[in-house]
This record gives sequence, C-alpha cells and structure tokens, in this order.
Amino acid sequence: MRQPEVFTAIRRCAWLLVALLVSWGTAGAAAVERGAVASASPAATAVGLAILRDGGNAADAAVAMALALAVVMPQAGNLGGGGFAVTRFASEVRTLDFRETAPAAATRDMYLDGQGEPRPGASLVGPLAAGVPGSPAGLHALHEALGRRPWAAVVAPAIALARDGFTVDARLAQDIGRAADLLGRFPETAALWLPDGRPPAVGTRMRLPALAATLAAYAAQGPAAITAGPIAAAIERAAQRHGGVLRASDLAAYRPVWRAPVRFAAFGWEVASMPLPSSGGIILGQTCGLLGRRSWATHPIGGVERRHLLVEAWRRAFADRVLLGDPATTGADAADLLAEGWLARRAAEIDPVRATPSAEVATWSPAAAAESRETTHLSVIDGDGHAVALTTTLNGSFGCGLAVPEAGFLLNNEMDDFATAPGRPNLYGLIQGEANAVGPGKRMLSSMSPTIAWRGEEVIAVGSPGGSRIPTATLQVLLALIVDGATPAEAVARPRVHHQWRPDVLYAEPEALSPAVAEGLARRGHAIQPVDSLGEVQLVRRLADGTLEAAADPRHPGAAEILQAGGGR
Ligand code: GLY
Repeated sequence: MRQPEVFTAIRRCAWLLVALLVSWGTAGAAAVERGAVASASPAATAVGLAILRDGGNAADAAVAMALALAVVMPQAGNLGGGGFAVTRFASEVRTLDFRETAPAAATRDMYLDGQGEPRPGASLVGPLAAGVPGSPAGLHALHEALGRRPWAAVVAPAIALARDGFTVDARLAQDIGRAADLLGRFPETAALWLPDGRPPAVGTRMRLPALAATLAAYAAQGPAAITAGPIAAAIERAAQRHGGVLRASDLAAYRPVWRAPVRFAAFGWEVASMPLPSSGGIILGQTCGLLGRRSWATHPIGGVERRHLLVEAWRRAFADRVLLGDPATTGADAADLLAEGWLARRAAEIDPVRATPSAEVATWSPAAAAESRETTHLSVIDGDGHAVALTTTLNGSFGCGLAVPEAGFLLNNEMDDFATAPGRPNLYGLIQGEANAVGPGKRMLSSMSPTIAWRGEEVIAVGSPGGSRIPTATLQVLLALIVDGATPAEAVARPRVHHQWRPDVLYAEPEALSPAVAEGLARRGHAIQPVDSLGEVQLVRRLADGTLEAAADPRHPGAAEILQAGGGR
C-alpha cells in the first residue's frame, strides 16, 4: 500500500473502533432506564444525569446542563448568548426561541465604513458584535413551562461548579490557547481566562466566583437578576467602555418566544425542528422533501447516487436560505419553501448525473412558486419519554471576546449572523440577503437545528453545533437512524459531507468518500474539498419498548449517559 492508503486504512479502522466502543458503552443498557443525556461536556452530562436521578424531567435536565455548560465550556455555553429548544412532552411539540436580538441602537450599516465596505472584525470582535443575550430569560422560560424540580435546584449544580471549581480539560486549554489573541484584547477577559497571561494548563482547578454569584442571584430572583439591576448596569458599562451599543434597557426589553415548530414527514417518521429565525428546520424539511421525491433511500449507503442527490438537495435548500430572516421581515417562510409545488419543482430540477452549478440555481420567488465555531448542543429524554433538544451559542468560540467582570460571563458575537453587508459571506461563508439585514430588535438568522423525530413510541432528539454545517450534520445522523437503521453510536460516528450552495464546494471528512465515490462525484461536476470535521452531534433515542440509548459525537470529548432504574449509570 502507498503511504496515503495506509493512513486512509488506519483512519477507517479508527472510525470503526470508535463506533464499536461507543456502541459497547450504550448497548449494555437494559430496557428499564429513567433517562438518557448527551452533551459536549462530561461535567454537563453528569449534571443532567444527577437532575434526572433526583426526580427531574427532561426540561429540568436540559436547563441544568445548559447552565453547567455556561460554566465549564465558555467557548459556547453561556448566559451571554442565546439558543433554541425543541421539546416534546407527551405528544405536544413546542419550540422556544431564545435567540439574541439586535440592540435598539443597531443600524443597517453599523458594520460598514464610509465607503460602504465592511469594517474588518466589527461584527465579530468586542461588544459592538454582541446581540442582546437571550439565555437568561430563555432557560428560565423553558423551566417555568415544563420543569418539575424547583428552579433553585436546577441552577444549583452550575453554582457549585463555578464556586467550587472544575478541572480544565484538554479541549478547554486548547481552545483558550487558540483564542488567546481575542481573549487578550480585553483586560477583563484576560484576567479570567488567561491567568498569568497564559491559557490555564490542563488539570488546573478553575474557580469563577463572579459567575457563581451571578448564578446564585439568578437562582434566587430569576432572569431579572441579570436583565435588570447591577448586572445589567455592568453589562452596559462594559459595552460602552469598548464601543458597543448594548444597553441595560435592551436586556430589560428582551423576551423569549414560544413558536410552532417546522413539521414534516420523512421516511415514515414525523419530524419537528426549529422555525424562523432559524433556517435549520426549513433546510431539513426541504432536503427530506427532495430526497423522498428522488427515492434517495433506494440507493446504496455511501454511494455516488446518494451523495450526489444529498448535495443537490442542499444546494437548493441553501439557495433559498438567502431569502430568510427574522419572522417579521423574512422574504419567504416554511409554508412557501415546504409547499408541495415548490418541492416537486425543485426535485424535478435535479439532474441525476450532473452537479448543477450553484450559479444556475435560482432562489424561490412568489412567481416561481405560483408556477408550480461556536455553538453547543445537548439532547435529553426522560423516563416518561419527554424529550428536549437544545442548541445554544455565543456564535464564534468565546463570542465577542469580552467578559463582563461583575457578571463573570462572556458576551456573544451573534450580530455576525445578520447579513452585515448583504451579499458578502459571514463567518461561515454564508451569503445572506436583505431579509436578514441588521435592524433594531430583529433576530438574526440562524442555522441551529435542534430536532425531535418520532414514530409511534420511538423518539429521537438530535442536534449539532457548526454554523452552516448544523442542518447538514444533524440530517445525516437522522437519516442514518431512520433510513439505514444505524445504532446511535454508528450514526454519530459515520463520516459526513456538507454543501451550502455557495461556495460551490462539497466538503468531505477524511473517510466520507471512498476513492471510487470521490471520482464518481468529481466526474459529475462536484468540487470536493477535504475538511477535518463537520459538526458535533449529540443524540438520544427511545426505542419502541422503552429502551433508552445515547451517543456523543466521537469527534470531540463529549459524553452520553443512561440513568438506570436503580439510579446507577
Ligand atoms: N451562530 C450560528 C447560528 O446560529 O447558526
């Protein structure tokens, strides 16, 4: 074997071994479990398990895990960001939008210079990049609507982690090292996360007393502890100090919104995912609609036809994404883009043997229709089969880089998810349109896709971080489960691909395409670009007999756990 082939063979064996080990870790569970949790952090997963053990339900566990992530995973877990949750309690499916909003003083051109050119970094670094945090009110609203344990009991584990300390793991040390330039720009942040001017070493005991105090106030008073009073005033002062427009009045005015999910049928399953202001549910629905119409499931797993059809479906779904934005200003919505006629027309457009250049794929229009790095996800199912899929984000790793000293947490840089300069690519290379232009109070368009699927008694809760890669990673795992019958461990370990219309590139993880498939796709006109990793999917599943399963994505050091009836793991 030539050297590259040896490496390929070794990597393939490694993927298989990981899948087998993860299966072994989850397959031993008997059909008597009381809950299943999966998140990007072993400490957060342990918190979720403890809440379930103490009689909490899926909403209690999800909120407690999100708050634990706000302590131990400052790259993405947050109080200074926002997110989405999809819930299914009994048969009622709801979604909670706690996405950040643009501050009242935001303007359409706030990131452009006098010549109308984007100011480098303006929508990414520092508090001018920060949207109004949605997490404090959002997590509280999720608990208030669906939780069973007292609010203080759900916040307590995060307080303990911040007050008593947690151990810096390799991922956190590495991510702080990578973001050292950003974090070092703000003395407030450096004092917290670059002690002695350096990233903390792996194994360091990290205590966050200011964050512990904020969380204690949050446990006692609810969101007003952060969105009003001294902490809101401190956020305003920190923003002003560094040129931001975020004000205490923005925090006070923020409201999370319960919204009807995007719902669609796929391969015999019912699926509910996030509606606008996320594009995620619409992209999933469109893709499944096109794949179903093109008999995707009949083609061999991993073969050229499947990959080609998947990419051609995504190319069209992401082309339509350019029209999307805040529900109040969007140029199209789920009703337009999942309409029978539009899906049929899109499906008919797909050439089975040739990639359509993205430049030739027109976006949806009323006339056409008339003709025809950093986010984190957690998934929970409790013993009653109630499920929560929750994705939360600061946008980039460590958000805008500014930590508010009195509050102890970082602010997001979610404003970059707006079309800060319509027609130009954002952090994720996404081209976005007028509907997603900056405007005061608007919610910026997202790709986050927390998703729940069910068929009879079977339930799946799934999602991923990864910006534009979120819907494609989530969907590939879902399809592996519901179409191919993969186990959760196999489904999350399977190598993935990604396409987002523009750039017109098919991204592929190392083992995603065999040489023959890569050659076949190249012959059809796909421009393939290797990437190390796509998404980080966290998955839980309930089988028809009540057995619970969980799998954390083996690409990163997350953790999945099952709570047995006796209380043990
Ligand atoms: N910040 C990434 C997203 O919401 O899609």
